Order: sequence, then structure tokens, then C-alpha cells
Amino acid sequence: MNVLLIGSGGREHALAWKLAQSPLLNKLYAAPGNPGIAEEAELVELDPADHRAVIDFCRRQSIGLVVIGPEAPLVDGLADNLRTMGLLVFGPNRIPAQLEGSKGFTKALCDHAGIPTARWARASDRLAAEAALEDFGLPVVIKADGLAAGKGVIIAETAEQAALALDMMFDGGFGGAGESVVIEEYMEGEEVSFFALVDGETVRPFGSAQDHKRVGEGDTGPNTGGMGAYSPASIFTLKLERRVIKEIVAPTAQALAADGTPYSGILYAGLMLTAEGPKLVEYNARFGDPECPVLMMRLESDLLALMLATAKGELATARKPRLAKESALTVVMAAKGYPGTPEIGSGIAHLADAEATGAKVFHAGTAKSGTHLVAAGGRVLNVTALGATVAEAQAAAYRAVDAIHFPGGFCRRDIGWREVARKG
Ligand code: AMP
Ligand code: GLY
Repeated sequence: MNVLLIGSGGREHALAWKLAQSPLLNKLYAAPGNPGIAEEAELVELDPADHRAVIDFCRRQSIGLVVIGPEAPLVDGLADNLRTMGLLVFGPNRIPAQLEGSKGFTKALCDHAGIPTARWARASDRLAAEAALEDFGLPVVIKADGLAAGKGVIIAETAEQAALALDMMFDGGFGGAGESVVIEEYMEGEEVSFFALVDGETVRPFGSAQDHKRVGEGDTGPNTGGMGAYSPASIFTLKLERRVIKEIVAPTAQALAADGTPYSGILYAGLMLTAEGPKLVEYNARFGDPECPVLMMRLESDLLALMLATAKGELATARKPRLAKESALTVVMAAKGYPGTPEIGSGIAHLADAEATGAKVFHAGTAKSGTHLVAAGGRVLNVTALGATVAEAQAAAYRAVDAIHFPGGFCRRDIGWREVARKG
């Protein structure tokens, strides 16, 4: 079968690498892709926002499945339009993608379905937000309601910080994403990410991971899209997984199905393990980045078969996803300046040496300049390794990092520190 993969990040490189291993695959296309994805797929110049062009391409190339990697085209309704034309799609339609596209949508669904999450209020102007703040203690969490690339969340420790956060949101600091704000009670605990394939009311666990959001070692400094991740997260026991499916993920899938807008794709639940039990922080309607590389390293099943079963609504009778017992760990190499303005254009070399150590280097923000590979974005590479323990995976990932020549880049040297301290 021919497959079209939409996206261009480390997540899509990891998906392309795994899809390419499937015996069901005939030809893989990627739009727009990146130089790493080009090793697995033919890159095509298609604008995912031009749904008509995507449909025409799928017809011309007899595409049997479209895999939508990032959230923006999902929230934009690309899946709906492809499905209307009879194409099979991995990824949710526009309305169920609101689980990621609108924090208010998710919070309302949680209230309706009795799903544990932080107490919240939504306000669409400054005065209403100030009034709502009075119902919350400190610290308090203030979020832009819409998509803000993981950056629209401010944890205010003082009343002054809360006022400043509201200034920023209502003065357009997050563009349209900040037209309304969600104010939330601050939850205390350890965060963990849980992934599940969902097709209507069927939920199939796809592993756990933890990422490092802060740019600096010891989890300090500004937030990023993620500087590294590992899987599995030992804190997320099988017992917890069952509880999260029962109390959070299954009721979500049921609520969407009951509304006539069933979810189809991968559901990424960001969870807080609080003293009262697991609570939902947020949903994403896609694989995480950089969580996807660690999940793909551990996945033993045929990814294409799983995605097809999900897209066809046959997940209930399909083989369950199987993940290796080993640990995977990925280190993000970013361009200097990230998460501010990254220095792009600096050279990258010796990736083959890095991979000769047994690791896999997934490309995120890279480009070709002539025959040379250069940095083309904030997060540039996901250097990923497997190990019998998380400590071994960590050592293997850093051996590969050290083989890479990327003077314009940097990485954290402590990815996985908490898990290594816990597990050794
Ligand atoms: P979100 O974009 O909603 O995932 O928020 C980004 C990050 O902010 C989360 O990963 C948490 O670290 C933190 N966060 C969000 N909401 C809360 C909350 N209610 N309590 C504590 N931390 C939160
Ligand atoms: N690593 C966080 C995310 O993909 O949203």
C-alpha cells in the first residue's frame, strides 16, 4: 500500500522510519518531510493547508492511508475532508481534535464525564478573568485557550504574576490563541505522558513516557517543546495505566462517541500523579515530540497495521500494540538560542558515526544546503537509543551525541536523571 505522511519533525521522522519497516508498505510519501525523512520516503511539495491538493495527490498516487503527524492540520479539519472523499486517515477529525485545539473544550468534556482534572474557569475578557481569579489560590495556572505550540501556559506564584499573565494574554501575546483564557487550580505531583490508540470506544495502550520541558539542566529555565524523553516511565505502573484508562481515557472516548464525533487516532494524555490520584493536565491529538521517537524505538508491532486498523475502525479485533521491555531515551540537540530565536544554518556532520554506535538519529529541524546538512529550526536532532535499563539507554544516547559534530548546537546532559536515580 502507498502511504502519505504529513509533517516534518522528529515525530514524523520516527513514524516514517517505523512505517518503512512494514511489510504492508509499498511506497511512502511525505509532505513536506525533512532530510531525515527523505531517507525513508519520497518528499512531495504539498501544502497540508490546501486540502484539495492533498486529495488530488492521494488519488493520483493511489494512497491507501494518510497519516497526519502534527496538530495544526487536524484542528484545521484535513482528516474530515480526506474522509469525506473516501480516503483512510490516521488522525482525528476537527471536532475530536478540539481535545488539543481548545483547552476549554477538554475541560467542559471532563466536567460532563466526571473525569478528574484541575478545577477551572474560562474568561474571554480581562474583567471576567480578574473576577474568576478570586476563586483560586496561589500558585494559579493561566492558559491561552487555543493552540500555542506548548507555550501558552503560565504558572503564576503571586497575584502580580497572575496580573502580568493576563496582560500578556489579552494584549495578544499568544495571538488568537489568547483570545480567551482558562484559569486552573495548580496541581502538585509528578507528570507522565500516556499514549493510547483510540477508535470510537476502543482504547489500546501504546506506552508511557516522560519528557523534559525546561531548557536547562536540573529542569530549570524557560519551557521548550521538550529537550528529551524516555519510555517507559516506571512510575506509570500497570495498575495506574488501568486506572487512567478507566477514569480518564475511556470516558473521554465514550463521551466523544456519544456526541457523534468519535475519536480516531493516537490520544496523548498529559497526566499529573497527585496525592488524590491521576488527573488530566491536557490532551494532545497526536504523538508527542520528542516522545514519538522513544515509543517508535520500543515498538515491536507493525505500525502500519496498527494505524490501518485504527483508521478502518477495526482496532477492537486487531492485534494489540507490543512494546519492548527495554528502555528508550532520546536527547534533543537544539540550535543555540532555542527556545528563543535559534541560530539556523550551522553545519551538522558525523551522523553516520553516531548511528554506528547503535543509536538512531531522527531529524527534526534540519535542511540541506547543497550537500551539507544544516540546522533549520530550534530543535534539530533527536538522538535516540535503546538499553536494557534507562541508565544504559542514557549512556548509549550520549555516546551517539558525542559522535556528532554540531558546533552551533547544544543539548542537556541530564536527560532521564530522575528515572536513572530511581531505577539505576
Ligand atoms: P499544557 O500545555 O496544558 O500541557 O501545560 C504545560 C505544562 O504546564 C504542563 O506540562 C504542566 O507542567 C504545567 N501545567 C499545566 N496545567 C497545570 C496545572 N493545572 N497544575 C500544575 N501544572 C500545570
Ligand atoms: N513533548 C510535548 C509535546 O509533544 O506536546
